[in-house]
Amino acid sequence: MCGIVGAIRSANHNVVEFLTDGLKRLEYRGYDSSGIAVLMDGKIKRVRRVGRVANMEAAAHDKGVSGQIGIGHTRWATHGGVTEPNAHPHISGDKIAVVHNGIIENFEAERSRLRELGYEFESQTDTEVISHSVRHEYEQNGGDLFVAVQAACKRFHGAYAIAVMAQDNSQNMVVARMGCPLLVAFGEGETFIASDVSAVIAFTRQISYLEDGDVALLQAGSFVKLVNKNGEDVQREVKTSGLSLASLELGAYNHFMQKEIHEQPRAVADTAEVFLDGGFIPENFGKNAPQVFQEIDSIKILACGTSYYSALTSKYWLESIAKIPTDVEIASEYRYRDVIANPKQLIITISQSGETLDTMEALKFAQSLGHKHSLSICNVMESALPRNSELVLYTRAGAEIGVASTKAFTTQLVVLFGLAVTLGRMHGLVSDEKLAAYTQELRELSGSIQHALNLEPQIAAWAQKFAKKSSALFLGRGIHYPIALEGALKLKEITYIHAEAYPAGELKHGPLALVDENMPVVVIAPHDGLLDKVKANMQEVSARGGELFVFTDLDSDYEGGVDNIHIIRTPRHVGVLSPIVHTIPVQLLAYHTALARGTDVDKPRNLAKSVTVE
Ligand code: G6P
Repeated sequence: MCGIVGAIRSANHNVVEFLTDGLKRLEYRGYDSSGIAVLMDGKIKRVRRVGRVANMEAAAHDKGVSGQIGIGHTRWATHGGVTEPNAHPHISGDKIAVVHNGIIENFEAERSRLRELGYEFESQTDTEVISHSVRHEYEQNGGDLFVAVQAACKRFHGAYAIAVMAQDNSQNMVVARMGCPLLVAFGEGETFIASDVSAVIAFTRQISYLEDGDVALLQAGSFVKLVNKNGEDVQREVKTSGLSLASLELGAYNHFMQKEIHEQPRAVADTAEVFLDGGFIPENFGKNAPQVFQEIDSIKILACGTSYYSALTSKYWLESIAKIPTDVEIASEYRYRDVIANPKQLIITISQSGETLDTMEALKFAQSLGHKHSLSICNVMESALPRNSELVLYTRAGAEIGVASTKAFTTQLVVLFGLAVTLGRMHGLVSDEKLAAYTQELRELSGSIQHALNLEPQIAAWAQKFAKKSSALFLGRGIHYPIALEGALKLKEITYIHAEAYPAGELKHGPLALVDENMPVVVIAPHDGLLDKVKANMQEVSARGGELFVFTDLDSDYEGGVDNIHIIRTPRHVGVLSPIVHTIPVQLLAYHTALARGTDVDKPRNLAKSVTVE
């Protein structure tokens, strides 16, 4: 995790303005401490603070820090606690300053080596081996920063995106990338670097993405030198980013999560467009997809967090619509067990960010075992997962900034539904009538989501009750069980209320013991073939004095009928896409409960959006 920025700005701009603005936009990557280093009057001036970037910004302002060249970092602690000495940048001998995103796995061996060479360590971080190592090479190589970074990187095992500056070089900065995202952006006579395009977009749209193994020497306005992992001179294309600044701003909303929940009708419609305009055809997934989809005999989906729950949901569609055996696995589990590889199995990775390390490593593991075919479903263009996959279909959710994922989830579901229909159609399992019905359901999805959003006042009223609870149970059956899981995850993440989800039929095998008048039980109970079963499960809760909060739809005949049963109805049952619509109420419930409890909705404690560590 962590986010890095850096810039060489023109004479009339103070680099601190970019560094602090860029770091604020990268806070989703980690937000426990931050720091900047700026070359000022021939010396490296560093400011670091525990807490949010705003604390550090105020301190930099008080100290009057200014200059043209500088680097910055926002941290999510891995090696060493959340303290100022552990915050980046790390400086060696007042000469070399480094910011780093990633993990140097062999840092202990490197630390011993550098200690023997006389270097002293001030932090518990793995990053400090980079600053000392670069300084060592810098002194050995006659002050050539580019050569020094290249030499130092050769020693590191692990993942990194780094930016390095030297006290005696006010013109240049060196950056290197291995396994963590890094881009270089160019303005007029200016150069910026960042972990993510959102940090630079207010300053320039001219972006060049580095590849793994690249090392670049930068000056204001251009690359001076750029080499790949073999040390060969290369060029990386400069593209114009289409990301809009408005998509990164709160606008009329109080929180990004609130904005992102309300953007879902638009995000889902944009994502569905590929199928609604182009049809359910394999080419949507890449030019090789027609052949790949013919060759495969099964699917394995690898993902983490909310993306894992979208995978679980899609298993129902893939097996019922396309009749293709589908196995879903948490990426961090898959990569560490003996698996039986099947070259005919399509590996699908699902990820909002496209850079979750566990998912990336799981994909590499599958490929190393001989899995030939891979598809990435991802929200971030040019990120690691799509770049390493044979096929890709991007969700069009737009930038998601709130740590708790919302619109990424519903748009992933749209793509996965589209995949199921595409595969079903290819294999002759979806008739023309069925296809027309699916198309119509997808066309109406945005409107149904909007109806669900209109339930917000009723859900906000429920949230007042939830805010006083310390635990909650979520129940669902069939394809709505993963939605119960997602509802429990949302509540945990942003309200810190303990929440668990169960398939409703499992209640009697254990969790029923938890039910009493203090345990709210949320039930996803749409009018589907399992409603009668769910009704029986709800009786089991009522009979034990439990308080039920039921999300159902107008078509369902469920009346509750007892005092401690509360019901909210979506306007009508929306068929096969019902899990997408039923996601909205559980998102809103978590959001309003967090508001009532006064927690930090967009940046919940201990979490980060982009998890680039194991
Ligand atoms: C983190 C985020 C979650 C997200 C998960 C997977 O834990 O806080 O919201 O679902 O990572 O992220 P990905 O980017 O791979 O979907």
